[in-house]
Amino acid sequence: MSDTNSKKVKITLNGKEIEAPAGQNLLDAADANGVEIPRYCYHPGLSVAGQCRMCMVEVEGNPKLQIGCNIRCSDGLKVISDSEKVKNAVKWSLEYHLVNHPIDCPICDQAGECGLQEYYMEHGQYKSDMHEQKVNKQKVVDLGDHIVLDKERCILCSRCVRFTQEISKTSEFGIFNRGDRSVIGTVDDKPLTGNYQVNTVDICPVGALTSKDFRFEQRVWFLDETESVCSGCSKGCNVFVHHKKGKHIYRLKPRFNEAVNSYWMCDKGRYTYKDSNYDRRLSNAKMAGVDIPYSEAIQTWASDLRVLVATERTDEIGVWISPHHSNEELNSILDTFSGKLKVTKFYSENIEQIVQKDESVDGFLLRSDPYPNSKGFLSTLQGKKVKTQSTDDLIQTIKKGGVSHIVLICPEGQRILPEMLKISKVLSPFQFVIVLTPQLAAMEIFSAALSLPTLGHYEKTGTFINHAGIVQHTAAGFKMFKESHSVTDILNDLMIAQAKPAETRERMAT
Ligand code: SF4
Ligand code: SF4
Ligand code: FES
Repeated sequence: MSDTNSKKVKITLNGKEIEAPAGQNLLDAADANGVEIPRYCYHPGLSVAGQCRMCMVEVEGNPKLQIGCNIRCSDGLKVISDSEKVKNAVKWSLEYHLVNHPIDCPICDQAGECGLQEYYMEHGQYKSDMHEQKVNKQKVVDLGDHIVLDKERCILCSRCVRFTQEISKTSEFGIFNRGDRSVIGTVDDKPLTGNYQVNTVDICPVGALTSKDFRFEQRVWFLDETESVCSGCSKGCNVFVHHKKGKHIYRLKPRFNEAVNSYWMCDKGRYTYKDSNYDRRLSNAKMAGVDIPYSEAIQTWASDLRVLVATERTDEIGVWISPHHSNEELNSILDTFSGKLKVTKFYSENIEQIVQKDESVDGFLLRSDPYPNSKGFLSTLQGKKVKTQSTDDLIQTIKKGGVSHIVLICPEGQRILPEMLKISKVLSPFQFVIVLTPQLAAMEIFSAALSLPTLGHYEKTGTFINHAGIVQHTAAGFKMFKESHSVTDILNDLMIAQAKPAETRERMAT
């Protein structure tokens, strides 16, 4: 773990003078200046182990090569990482890593993002001088719910060992035996525990640790990468969304943010992408369970609204919202209903209470507030002077006939479904119900309603405020279904249709 301070020092790297924070790890300083020093065991989020000997450099005043990962930047330091002497040392370090490594690349899930493959192309000596047979080790070791271990592919970098010692504090991984019989593993191959297991897959530089959820699903070179923020709790861990042309999400990977999640994320959050995929998604507008064109759905909704506006009965509208929405979505919801339509009846869970009680669940990342934007929700509502009542209040109001036009802006995720089920039980055929949701299950609960598909969390472009008040941006730029739209776009179309019914446009695929 880098231990830097704000003071800058001057060092010379490959003959070029550069500035770096005093105490910065040499490998990080080199990265920041576009010089790549190979490494397997070094990880900026873990302690230095000096295990792999790939980061050899020449240091002025020192007759022998040194490992770069154990050097801190100080004034006057002079380092060479591109001499023939260094290249030769790296080539032989790599050769030793490959002595017992299986020829698994065609069937290995790490292919395409494997440190061995990448460095072999760059630093390999190509013609092997080894005559001895490879040492065979155990393959396909089941380590519980999330991970499969291949002991033969492991290069004993000890990143996973240090992760479980230093970060998850579960101390499950160890290196057992000696010499070329050394193997990575857990005691008696016991399954891993806890909510942070898959981080070890992220940091394993080779295909020794693979994720059960991702293995054999997709080759990494077919995946596109988009920046987002996890939807699983108020921590707001920064993530990369790996998807194939925006049509299917295959995995989430943590994205470094020192102020929020460092290099890590939890397993619960890691699987939130599943709610975005085809089998759980509402892909078309539906009226009473039957597919209808988007424009027809908007016209149908606008017609009912027009009657309420014309007869000054917009106080019969009730709107249920949640902090799953981005700040931009919340703004457009409130501008439309509170601002333009003068709606006063808004409902949600008791978000103030959720925020007051929000705390770390495990002393690390996961928090008790299950929403990605509770703070944004409260500040947007406060800014617009809107107050929400509880879901139970909505239920009572429905029972009393106090609302005839009910808009449920229901996010993805199983957690919200019991609330929706409670509402559905008290509805009568006299109420016009509109469900805006990305979720198939939500549409099924309100099977008699008008349902419009919205974007899933990882398709959104917008801002979210995490538990610490940090405003974070998501930049999706893809959508999985032609007929699904952002809440903002849907409400804009609704207001156009409500004012001028003939001008509602048919949305085109993007
Ligand atoms: S399993 Fe992966 S992370 Fe763990 S020691 Fe082996 S190569 Fe390193
Ligand atoms: S801690 Fe929260 S935000 Fe971070 S990955 Fe887990 S569920 Fe997502
Ligand atoms: S990265 Fe320096 S010894 Fe492994």
